[in-house]
Amino acid sequence: GVIIFNEGQAGEGANDRRVLLGGTLGEPTVNIPVVGTTYATGEELAAAGTTVTLTTDTESDPHRKTHNILAESRWGDPSKVVMAGAHLDSVTEGPGINDNGSGSAGVLETALKANRFPTVNKLRFAFWGAEELGLLGSEHYVANLSAEEKAKIKLYLNFDMIASPNYVFGIYDGDDSDAEGAGPGPEGSDKIEKLFESYFKAVRQPYTGTDFTGRSDYGPFIEAGIPAGGLFTGAEGIKTAEEAQKFGGEAGVAYDKCYHLECDTIANVNDKALAVNTGAIATATFVYAYSRDLPGG
Ligand code: PHE
Ligand code: ZN
Ligand code: ZN
Ligand code: ZN
Repeated sequence: GVIIFNEGQAGEGANDRRVLLGGTLGEPTVNIPVVGTTYATGEELAAAGTTVTLTTDTESDPHRKTHNILAESRWGDPSKVVMAGAHLDSVTEGPGINDNGSGSAGVLETALKANRFPTVNKLRFAFWGAEELGLLGSEHYVANLSAEEKAKIKLYLNFDMIASPNYVFGIYDGDDSDAEGAGPGPEGSDKIEKLFESYFKAVRQPYTGTDFTGRSDYGPFIEAGIPAGGLFTGAEGIKTAEEAQKFGGEAGVAYDKCYHLECDTIANVNDKALAVNTGAIATATFVYAYSRDLPGG
C-alpha cells in the first residue's frame, strides 16, 4: 500500500480539513470527496504508476505536524522535471474548498491521467502542506533541494484557488506586462504565461494577468530562479465593472466572498471555472511533459 496522508493544520471539529488519500500506517483507506469528479485512493495512484513519497515534516508549532505529498511519474528523463502543485491545507476558519481543494483536485485529476502515458520529461506533482502558515511546505521543499536537484526542475506550475464563485480567469503575470504589482519572473516564466493564454484562446474564454509577487507556493521557486506560472480566479478582491463585462458575475462583489471563511464549502465553487481551469492544468502539464524545449532549458 501507499500512504498519502495530510493532517492539515486545522484543529478538531467540523472545520478540520483532514484528507486521507488511501493508506496503510494503521489508518483505514478513505476516499476523499475531491471537488469535481475525481475520487482517488493511494492504491489507484500507485496502480496508475505513480511513486508516492512523503517528504517534509514541517513543524508549524510544537503540537502539529504536516506533510508535503510528492507523486512522480515512472517515465520521463529524470534530469528534466516538470512540476505542478497545489496546497492541500486550509485556514482553520473553514474547510478550504475553493482555497485550495479546487487547485488540489485539478492537479490530482491531471496526475491520475498523466501516468497512463510514457512521457519525455519526468512529471512531479506536489500537494503542499502549511501554505496558509506562510508557504512552509514549499519553502521547506525548495530549501532542501541540492543544487543538482534544483537544476533538474525546469519549471513549476501552481494552482491556488481556481474555482472562485465570482471568478476571473487569472494567469500569473510572468512577463510583467499586464497586471499591477507584478514583477517579471525568472526567464521562461513569460513562456508559461503565453501557453496558458493560448489555452484560453483555444477554448474561447477571456483571461487576464494576475499577481505574480509570490503570494503562494510558487514564491520559493521563483526565488530560486525556477521559471513558474499558474492560475488564480480571485480571493478577497472586488470584481470591477469591466471584469464583470468580460467574465460575467457580479461587479462590486468579492471574487470569493467566502475567502478564508467557514463558508468556503463545496457550495463555494464555480463549476465552469473549475472545469475550464482543470483543462488548463492538464493542457500545460501535457505540453511540458512532451516538450524538448522547456522554459527552464
Ligand atoms: N495564497 C493565498 C491563500 O492561499 C491565495 C492568494 C494568492 C490570495 C494571491 C491573493 C493573492 O490564501
Ligand atoms: Zn488561503
Ligand atoms: Zn490558497
Ligand atoms: Zn503578462
